[in-house]
Parts: sequence; structure tokens; C-alpha cells
Amino acid sequence: MAIPISDADIPVISSELPLSEAERRESLRQLTMGHWIARADLGYVITTHDDCAAMLRDRRWFSALSLIAESQNYENPEWSKRDRKSILSTEGDDHQRIRRIVSPAFTPKSADRLRPFMRDVMDELLDPVCEAGRSEFVADVCEPYPIPIICELLGAPREDWELFSRLAVDIFRVFNGNLAQDGPKIIAAGEEMDTYMVNLISERRRHPREDLLSDLIAAEEEGDRLSTDELLSMANALLLAGTDTTRNQLGCAVALFAQHPEQFQLLRENPELAPGAVEEVMRYLGAVRGTGRYASEDITYRDVLFPKGTLIFPNFVAANHDNDKFVNPTEFDITRQPGVPHLTFGSGAHFCLGAFLARAELQEAFTVIARRLPDLALDGEISWKPIQNGIWGPESLPISFLKGY
Ligand code: HEM
Repeated sequence: MAIPISDADIPVISSELPLSEAERRESLRQLTMGHWIARADLGYVITTHDDCAAMLRDRRWFSALSLIAESQNYENPEWSKRDRKSILSTEGDDHQRIRRIVSPAFTPKSADRLRPFMRDVMDELLDPVCEAGRSEFVADVCEPYPIPIICELLGAPREDWELFSRLAVDIFRVFNGNLAQDGPKIIAAGEEMDTYMVNLISERRRHPREDLLSDLIAAEEEGDRLSTDELLSMANALLLAGTDTTRNQLGCAVALFAQHPEQFQLLRENPELAPGAVEEVMRYLGAVRGTGRYASEDITYRDVLFPKGTLIFPNFVAANHDNDKFVNPTEFDITRQPGVPHLTFGSGAHFCLGAFLARAELQEAFTVIARRLPDLALDGEISWKPIQNGIWGPESLPISFLKGY
């Protein structure tokens, strides 16, 4: 007979966790040692690699993203009108259908197509930095890096990079937990993006090009195509899912390289280590630290009953440091043997659609940075974003270097 989760004897994770990353990781590790689940304020934190992966693969757990407005009691007719189904928050057959249609456009080959462009963007961002000898690396390089790439991916021209950058700032407010204040700005940015994309879509319908938007327009599964509304929702989801993630992950990476100069030296001397370095950075210090799901029905798992509506939070930080899965998990080692995948791209039905693209972006960035800033070092304290942020990384990352090429 399954025990209801509310009666289970499990540890409690306080929301008052230590702020430093290392302390927090250690407290999470100690708290959950011997446990796979812990009680938190809003639901239950899942802490082992196996359980995070198993629960994310179980399609009865639905993405909690669709609950954002409800959980904040946010009511606005304009919001509800625009709240169309996005790949990030749909489930079941609807989700599978969109995923089937768009997946062929997100292959390693389509990511590779953009590699020369990625290198050019990174080179252009580093030119002024190299001359200066020091940099606030988040503002100078990490923040701007993904925008031109998303624009190129969608087929938006260079003169519109500024516009996308501005829209992205407002669209990301959805994760700030304050819809009452931010809702109108998010709606306005969404509408502006839609107007822009409607024009771009009709242009690409007439004149297809070698870009993702043309691929998505042409994508077809047994005669089934994405409607204009679905294309708009997809463009919005890509901006949301593919920008802040990459920039924060790059910030985490450069912070780690500055803190572990011997690992950076290895990468510099062996650029072929870049793919492994990306996986290790994402395991050791992932920019997406977890996700949320709710039970779409009563679910029994490991003899525990989770009533319909129960919220769970698969914790990627804990899973990526699971002693049963990784040898010396607290060691940062870019030569780590490939084996168990980290969970920073998620798992199951919503596994990151842009994973090949993100990997390519980070691999190219690492290689260019190692070549052009070979002796980069910290030039002050790193300050980190609030630990509660769903997408997390350094707020500011001062670096200096003697030689910039
Ligand atoms: C280092 C960078 C990235 C990280 C760490 C990351 C992480 C993730 C994670 C954890 C999920 C699953 C969320 C969940 O299960 O609730 C996800 C989904 C998604 N990601 Fe990424 N992502 C990154 C970059 C990108 C890029 C560059 C794109 C595309 C341009 C992208 C597009 C998407 C999309 C569309 C989904 C939703 C997939 C679905 O629901 O079926 N991501 N990402």
C-alpha cells in the first residue's frame, strides 16, 4: 500500500539555504544523503539522478510552467488571450505533435551550419575586450553573445539585433515571479515580437532561405504543418529558452575557468577537449538548476502516492553531483570520461530541443576565448545572481589578462 507523500518520513529543505554556491551544494548533499526526496515550501525536491530522470520521463508529470500565472493569482484578460500553447508547456499528444514536426530542424547538422557565424560573433565581441586588457565579462561578452545567434537562426537581419535584445529582456520577466508588475511589459513585448515575426514568416513563405524559420515553415509530418500561430509561439519559445540559458552557462564556464587555471590551460593546449569541457561545465555548474512538474493525476512512484496537483522540483544540482553516478563529483575535470549524462538539459519529453545548438555555441565560444585570452584571470570578486533564479549564473565577472590576441 503506497504511503501518501504528506505522511512520508523525509527531510525538509529550508528556503533559507546558504547563499554561497559551494555551501548550498554541500548542505543539499548532506540533507539528502540517503534520501531521494525532500520536502520544500511549495512541493517536493527530487535529489538523485535516477529519480530525477525517471520522473521527468514519466509523462503523467506535467510542466509547471503552465502554472506561472495561476500560482501568482495573476488575472489579466490580455494575458489569457495571449496564453497560447507553447512547446515548453503543452503535454501529451499536442506536445508530441509539435516536437515531431520541429525536431528535424534541430539536428547537429543545422547547429553546425551556424558554427562559423558563432565564431565571428565571439571574435567581434572580443576585439574591444582584447585591446582593453580587462573586462566585465558578463556585460561585455556573455550577455550579448546569444542574441545574434538566435536572430541568425530565425533569419532576422543584423539591424534587428538591438530590437531582439530589448524584447528578450521584457519577455524574460516572466521568470521574475512578479507578474502583477511585469505582466503588461511581457504582453507588450510579446505583441511586438509577434508583429515582427508575422512579417518575417510571410517573407520566408515567399522566399525560403537557409535558416531555421524556413525549415520550420517547410517542416511537415504526414501532411501536418505548423500554423502561423504555432510558428509565432515557437519563435517566442526559442527566444525564451535559448538566450538567457546560453549566456548564463557561458558566464558559469568562464568563472570556472578563472577559478581553475590548470583546467583552462588544458583546454587552451588541447582545443579538441572543448566538447568534453562543455559537458563538465554543465554538470559541475549548470545554469539551469532544476525544473518543476505537477502530477496531472494521482501518481504512485516508489511506493509513495503523489495526489493529483502535487508539485515536484527535480534538482539538477543534486542529480549532477550524485555519488552513485559520478566519480569524485565535486571535482571539476574537463577530461572526465564520458558516461552518465548530466541533467542540465533536462530529460524526457521536454529534453532541451536546442541542446545541439547550445553545445555548438559553447564549444565555439570556449575555443575562441582560450585562443584569444590565454592568461585570463579574475580581477575582483565574482557576484552571483540570486540563487532562487530559475536560470542562474554570474551577475558580474571581472577579468583581466596580459595578452589578448
Ligand atoms: C546552455 C544552454 C541551455 C540550457 C542549459 C538549456 C536547458 C533546457 C532545459 C533544462 C529544458 C527542459 C525544461 C524542462 O524540462 O522543464 C530545455 C527545454 C528547451 N530548450 Fe533549452 N537549454 C539551453 C539552450 C537552448 C537553446 C540554444 C535553445 C534554442 C534556440 C533551446 C530551446 C529549448 C526548447 C524549445 C525547449 C522546450 C522543449 C520542449 O518542451 O519540448 N534551449 N532547455
